[in-house]
Amino acid sequence: MKPRILVSRQVFPEVLARLQAHFDVDYNDVDAPLPPAELAARLADKVGAITMLSDRIDASVLAQAPGLKVVCNVAVGYNNFDVPAITAAGVMATNTPGVLDDTTADTAWSLILSSGRRVVGADRWVREGQWKGWKFQDAWLGQDIHDATLGILGMGRIGQAVARRALGFDMQVIYHNRSRLDAEQEKACNAQWVSKEDLLRQSDFLVALVPYSAQTHHAIGAAELAQMKPTAHLINIARGGVVDDQALIEALKAKRIAGAGLDVFENEPALNPGFLGLDNVTLTPHIGSSTRQTRLAMAMLAADNLVAALSGQCPPCLINPEAFKP
Ligand code: DGY
Repeated sequence: MKPRILVSRQVFPEVLARLQAHFDVDYNDVDAPLPPAELAARLADKVGAITMLSDRIDASVLAQAPGLKVVCNVAVGYNNFDVPAITAAGVMATNTPGVLDDTTADTAWSLILSSGRRVVGADRWVREGQWKGWKFQDAWLGQDIHDATLGILGMGRIGQAVARRALGFDMQVIYHNRSRLDAEQEKACNAQWVSKEDLLRQSDFLVALVPYSAQTHHAIGAAELAQMKPTAHLINIARGGVVDDQALIEALKAKRIAGAGLDVFENEPALNPGFLGLDNVTLTPHIGSSTRQTRLAMAMLAADNLVAALSGQCPPCLINPEAFKP
């Protein structure tokens, strides 16, 4: 008999086929999250699961799934996992690092370019029929991206990929991270470590890329926004909650900063309505890693993790090595 697993949400057919070759799959063939009670009920008789960032896995879910051995998130971020509770239950947890770095960096750049050059607001204005003639000064003036200072808060793999792309724009790149890159890594992305205060003060484009946790909750709030240049743009491609959305709305309204590009939000998809009336913010629906190639690679990597874990091997992207029992 094949081991029973849950796939909590719709995945590409080739991923499902790979899983079905190894497992008896209980499949939620819908691209919407299972309600929490149903998720827990369907996990009750499973040994493994492919989960998404919308699935909360915590002590109460684990208590109802005594046979569970592994949960494999299709995301690099795993703030939907209560990792201490998962580890305490002796369950392995995995994520999908690496395969989405370049795609997410591309998305960060689309927001940098859109925010700096006001692309989305200008597009809306043209569609509304408001363009009556070419203008010289009253012409959606934006900020130059070339020669500007790019700041990165959280310099992991995605941050480094964002930084490398700045070379083509002759930008100065500064970053702040708990731990500094080594000299070779700094050279590869032409980036210089600075204090968080200097990062806030000097960046023309500040990209938030820290993982969400209690420590990074509102890492950018009113006090941080007040230190930024009035011409600066803030890009959040990390997680909702890293930025204090209400404080950002107030800063954008008061033009304390020039603009923002946001792919993630507090309480998403319930957007803070304060964003909707602002023409200096670009809003995208958490699509950082959303290309077909990358979402497929993420789901395949999650499947690799699941197959390895349930064959007694150490899964390639194990978050909690303490839970691995060879
Ligand atoms: C991740 O992998 O954490 C992304 O946010 C999913 O798109």
